[in-house]
Amino acid sequence: MIPKHIVDEIMATARIEEVIGDFVALKKSGSDLKALSPFSQEKTPSFYVSPNKQIFKDFSSGKGGNVVTFLMEHEQINYPEALRFLAKKYGITIPEEKEVTPEEIQEANEKESLYIVLQYAHDFYRDQLENTEEGKAIGKSYFLERGFRNETIEKFGLGFSQAQWDAFSADALAKGFKSEFLEIAGLSKVNEAGKRYDMFRNRVIFPIHNLVGKVVAFAGRQLSKEDKGPKYLNSPETPVYHKSDILYGMFFAKNMIRMKDKCFLVEGYTDVITLNQSGIENVVASSGTSLTEGQIRQIRRFTPNITVLYDGDPAGLKASQRGIDLILAQGMNVRLVIFPDGEDPDSYCQKVGGQEFEAYIEEHEQDFILFKSQLLFGESGKDPLKKAEAIKSIVASIALIPDPVTRTVFAQECAKIMEVPEQVIAAELGKSRRKELDESTRKNLEAAQIAEQIAAEEEVVSHLTETDKQEQQILKLLIRHASDAYDEERSVARFVLDEIDEGMDFRNPLYQRILAEAREVIDKGEALDASYFVQHPDPQVNGFAADVLQDRYRASDRWREIHEISLIHEDENFKPDVFSAILHYKIRRVETAIEANQEELKDASEDEAIDLLMQKQLYLIGLRKALSELIGATIIK
Ligand code: CTP
Ligand code: MN
Repeated sequence: MIPKHIVDEIMATARIEEVIGDFVALKKSGSDLKALSPFSQEKTPSFYVSPNKQIFKDFSSGKGGNVVTFLMEHEQINYPEALRFLAKKYGITIPEEKEVTPEEIQEANEKESLYIVLQYAHDFYRDQLENTEEGKAIGKSYFLERGFRNETIEKFGLGFSQAQWDAFSADALAKGFKSEFLEIAGLSKVNEAGKRYDMFRNRVIFPIHNLVGKVVAFAGRQLSKEDKGPKYLNSPETPVYHKSDILYGMFFAKNMIRMKDKCFLVEGYTDVITLNQSGIENVVASSGTSLTEGQIRQIRRFTPNITVLYDGDPAGLKASQRGIDLILAQGMNVRLVIFPDGEDPDSYCQKVGGQEFEAYIEEHEQDFILFKSQLLFGESGKDPLKKAEAIKSIVASIALIPDPVTRTVFAQECAKIMEVPEQVIAAELGKSRRKELDESTRKNLEAAQIAEQIAAEEEVVSHLTETDKQEQQILKLLIRHASDAYDEERSVARFVLDEIDEGMDFRNPLYQRILAEAREVIDKGEALDASYFVQHPDPQVNGFAADVLQDRYRASDRWREIHEISLIHEDENFKPDVFSAILHYKIRRVETAIEANQEELKDASEDEAIDLLMQKQLYLIGLRKALSELIGATIIK
């Protein structure tokens, strides 16, 4: 348990815009910040962060809440993990963090157990590298020979696994780690004879970190070409390691990628490390898998600009072409660099040093059209067939660009470079696009998608029952104005709670929970304001608070644009709003009672019962009339 005062300190220190800024490229939008949603694949930003209110709202997925909610959702971690993350970021010490005992390992759920096991393995391999004779003589000297400095080895957590069959497994089991998790993590295997052995033996170890810097996997490189097995052994896919979403080096690179507004994409672990060591930190690798859409989207959170630095060998060139298409299809900008024959970024950077390496990139960076035209046509002189092939291939890439203006610009450039009339390219582009999706159906589709989105939004609204909406409205005013004075004696919160007395529970369970908790706090004489709800540990509660604090009309930005509806600000006149919200709610409750009573009347057969129900009906109707007159509504029948 993290003590309450520490939680408070964390909540008071953490700035939501700083924390989210580590994951998402935020742009200013009025007093808020906005970005492409990290929770969905969208092309227009609908993700908002409010530094004033310390909340976020993602209209594409409906998620919203405070900084902790964000971390829980985004990193798929639990509440204490999110708090620890923040404590670490802001240098707040959490007292009494005990060492993990075997019992705690058992209790923790699978993911948490895996993180613990992986961190333990990381420390083990580190220790082997730094503190054992074998590690120092073989592993450490390997890295040093490759030109990695000690501080680099430490930064990337590089390690060593000795040749023995089960050095790691035996150690981990003796420490109380469950064999089950060693196996799920891919660290330990059992052969047919039932003998347990280590996955990584006689290899240097590269830990792979996720976006928040947790170790989620390893790669082990053989020490010499003569060794058995593949050059690199990679951890399997696990609950904490989804290969298609992880880029090697992203944890170390993300801030620099954002600052430089550019990301270098390389192929290998060693490329990332060497470039880092040479002062080029905005670099990640798609290591272990071929590049995926998910990985590109990770980069897009920080910058739309990618420069691909792949090997100049045929495999590298082929991979580059695939990369181009993936990047363009995500609406991002791609540039490419080819290295001299036989060099990869690692070897070239080691050879010439960081400064010259950067100068080389600057000089040789090409856009994809130049790159492809040289690759596919450059050497073939004037061969018209080759030229046609090259044009087709370039245009196929251009056709993937979602933005029509950008598409046109590149089509023009292609015409210039390939020395053909623009119409030829335009015609080919048209063909390519139609192949993707017939132009007119595409337009219809877009319109249909917008219509669907509007319908979905409207449905959500109309599905809220009248009562639900009214309960929501009352809580909205309660949360927004809790501590504001309603009259000379009472705060808004007090007034609302006096009026909605305990017999009149809210129907919606979440709303009722919030109402009851507000009552508890107020009755204890404690302060209640919006931040109480925003900082609430329950994500449902703080999510709701974020919703009502945020301008809810923003949800329909697009809808508003279409219908040219202007924003209505509801905040100025809150007293009459509070009063009328409560009256409307009461009327609604009375009406429900009238309806229920009417039903009972239909079924009643005994005179006495009918009499009673009639009296009740008259009373309720009188009540409705009185309430209606109070707000001057015109619903009196
Ligand atoms: N790779 C892999 N498994 C292999 C070979 C390669 O996962 N059997 C991945 C690794 O991420 C590697 C990348 O592909 O870093 C590029 O491979 P390669 O160019 O062969 O290796 P380098 O990164 O150049 O590694 P080194 O410099 O250590 O030879
Ligand atoms: Mn290499």
